[in-house]
Amino acid sequence: MSPMIADATAVAARATVPTTPKPTLEITEETSLADILRAREAGLGIRDVAPFFKQALHHFQSVGQNLYGRTLLGPSDAEAVVEYPYDDAQRDMIILASNNYLGLTNHPRVIRAAQDAAALYGCGSGSSPLLVGSFPVTKELESKLAELKGAEEACVFATGYSANVGVISAVAGKDDVVILDRLAHASMVDGAKLSGAQMKVFHHNDAAHLDRVLERNRNARTKLVAVEGIYSMDGDVAPLDQIWQVVKRHDALLLVDEAHSTGVLGPGGRGAAAYFGLEGEIDLHVGTLSKAIGACGGFVAGNSDLVTYIRYFARSGMFSTAPSPMVMAAASAAIDVIRDEPERREKLWENCRFLHSELKRLGFKTSAAPSPVIPVIVGNMKGLREMTLELHRNNICVNSVPFPAVAHGSERLRISLTANHTREQLKRALDCLVQAGKNAGIV
Ligand SMILES: Cc1ncc(COP(=O)(O)O)c(C=O)c1O
Repeated sequence: MSPMIADATAVAARATVPTTPKPTLEITEETSLADILRAREAGLGIRDVAPFFKQALHHFQSVGQNLYGRTLLGPSDAEAVVEYPYDDAQRDMIILASNNYLGLTNHPRVIRAAQDAAALYGCGSGSSPLLVGSFPVTKELESKLAELKGAEEACVFATGYSANVGVISAVAGKDDVVILDRLAHASMVDGAKLSGAQMKVFHHNDAAHLDRVLERNRNARTKLVAVEGIYSMDGDVAPLDQIWQVVKRHDALLLVDEAHSTGVLGPGGRGAAAYFGLEGEIDLHVGTLSKAIGACGGFVAGNSDLVTYIRYFARSGMFSTAPSPMVMAAASAAIDVIRDEPERREKLWENCRFLHSELKRLGFKTSAAPSPVIPVIVGNMKGLREMTLELHRNNICVNSVPFPAVAHGSERLRISLTANHTREQLKRALDCLVQAGKNAGIV
């Protein structure tokens, strides 16, 4: 059966007062989050959709098919104990679903820094950053982030999401245009929407198309182009050298979201801009502290005028409590570890090259080049659900990415790797992937 949003004509016919036909929902094998969004777009209100959604979730849980919400009972490492909902058991799983790329969330120096800061400053910051929510560790982290990005100044946010939303909505306004790569993260899209600027999209990683979009929007007051360093769902690197040239030619601003490239790519793990030798040239580097940096939070780094402006006008920073001092201290220690232990980055890339080349050799449809984010394209919701559940049953924890997070037909498993994965863990994961892939008919 296919997803159903049927016209409730029968209901409308019975009504004494003529009404506009209202869509209704039914749970089927194929029901997914996308159906819920479509129902909202088709006109159903929250009072109808929320109970339906809860019922659908309950249904998938009761038949052992809910793909989400696994609870970790230890650190988000290469292997972890996970609460498995379907047999009330705790399972030791190989985790291919953590963005803790360098294995720093539970690094002893990082944990100690958080403990020391908690003892000194407490657990919460108690105020917004501009009032009294900053601590010496916050300032120390901001200088380290600025240095890491070769920028004049940096400013932290509570998350990477709120950094993008705050930065884009502060920088762009009503007479401006925000031009996004088609695969740009939801946080950039949301920032662009909130800014009130026109929002345009260019083909993924296509600098020639960006050139044409910029040309068509040449009369906008400020043109802000926003791309990612390593793309979160495809794992490919943006051709920043080409993009930067186009952006400069049109006198636009360039924002690079380095969520997945900070700590991972370029000399010293300084990110995609550094990889292309463009460190001092990027107007705004946005990033997260929650992936390779192993803590939680976000940041923007750039020239001092822009960053100071953002500090005062990014509403997601201004009207939100500052990140906790212990998290700031953890991130600060993690940046030291990134500098002092480059072998972690080397091991991560060794793992990426191994898993990526094996997946290709075994016939999986994946990305063109290795990176810590490796997609395995399944191509439909049913196969994706079956593969994910089979892998989970075999103690391989992998993320399932359906539409609308990715385009229809490119539903995928999203594998993320860490420096802590061993060759044995990856080989075991590959064996399970091959079996699940055969069962789903994709290899
Ligand atoms: C490209 C990109 N930008 C921003 C974010 C948001 O970062 P955070 O998880 O710190 O909110 C993410 C991931 O979650 C991401 O993948």
